[in-house]
Amino acid sequence: MKDDITPKAKVPLAGRLAGKTAIITGGANGMGRAAVQMFAEAGAKVAVFDIATDAGRALETEQKGLGREVMFIEADVTRSDTVRAALAQVNAAWGPVDTLFSHAGTIIVKPLHDSTDEDYDRLMAINVRSSFIVCREVVAQMRRNGGGSIVITSSIGGEKGFALESIYCMTKGAVLQLARSIAAEYRDEGIRANAVCPGFVKTAHGLREIDELDGLGQSWSDSSLNAVQGRLCEPEEVAAAALWLSTDEASFVNGTALYVDNGWYAKG
Ligand SMILES: NC(=O)c1ccc[n+]([C@@H]2O[C@H](COP(=O)([O-])OP(=O)(O)OC[C@H]3O[C@@H](n4cnc5c(N)ncnc54)[C@H](O)[C@@H]3O)[C@@H](O)[C@H]2O)c1
Repeated sequence: MKDDITPKAKVPLAGRLAGKTAIITGGANGMGRAAVQMFAEAGAKVAVFDIATDAGRALETEQKGLGREVMFIEADVTRSDTVRAALAQVNAAWGPVDTLFSHAGTIIVKPLHDSTDEDYDRLMAINVRSSFIVCREVVAQMRRNGGGSIVITSSIGGEKGFALESIYCMTKGAVLQLARSIAAEYRDEGIRANAVCPGFVKTAHGLREIDELDGLGQSWSDSSLNAVQGRLCEPEEVAAAALWLSTDEASFVNGTALYVDNGWYAKG
């Protein structure tokens, strides 16, 4: 892989989300974790909804130690009763939510002809139902509160088709359409909704995906990755895009798919 295309220097974050109360789902690990760290550094109060309890608690402790306001809530975001209870906990502590990063998700790498009904139901629940539930609950609150910003994690697979990832691509297309539909339905109530669409990112998810694709006969060597996106994306690079979309700097950006893929989608 090319060494000369390194992540750019960190941009100043202080104050960019001052006064905001944010929820980040899937925030205990990977890109979500990077987003929690950056949103909190930018001045937001950040609630993390995740099932990874040890990682979530460790992150809360780390961030509090830095003087930041982060609350971990163990919550399976595929369940509406759990999401409602978690949201009520955030509201009781910090008031209404004005920023949501709906990021929780996973992947199944499998040929379509081997995929089961259970695979379909599981991935639709974790990747799509979760966003539907969290967005529905938060939109209701944002409407009462004069608006807010939602970012949903889609993928380059939300619009491109990938072999061995048919259910995954379906789920990522669905949440991209959810972001666009929220933008269309609620923009006049001050709610913006956008999607981030990463390529391969250096997280447990991304590295497992590459391993499993390799295991099923695709070759994601360094040179193959280099050809499509130059290098692996760092989790902070996606978190930075989600952060920007969540700030008032992006006040007229609504219903967009922001590709974080170093030109892969554009290049085809
Ligand atoms: N890593 C990549 O290459 C890549 C590329 C494009 C899109 N994505 C998207 O990013 C997201 C995955 O993030 P990551 O790469 O940071 O992976 P990750 O595996 O490091 O983190 C995913 C987090 O989601 C949490 N989670 C899973 N199911 C949950 C549930 N039901 N309720 C609450 N939390 C749950 C996990 O516990 C984990 O903390 C997915 O939406 C995925 O589609 C990843």
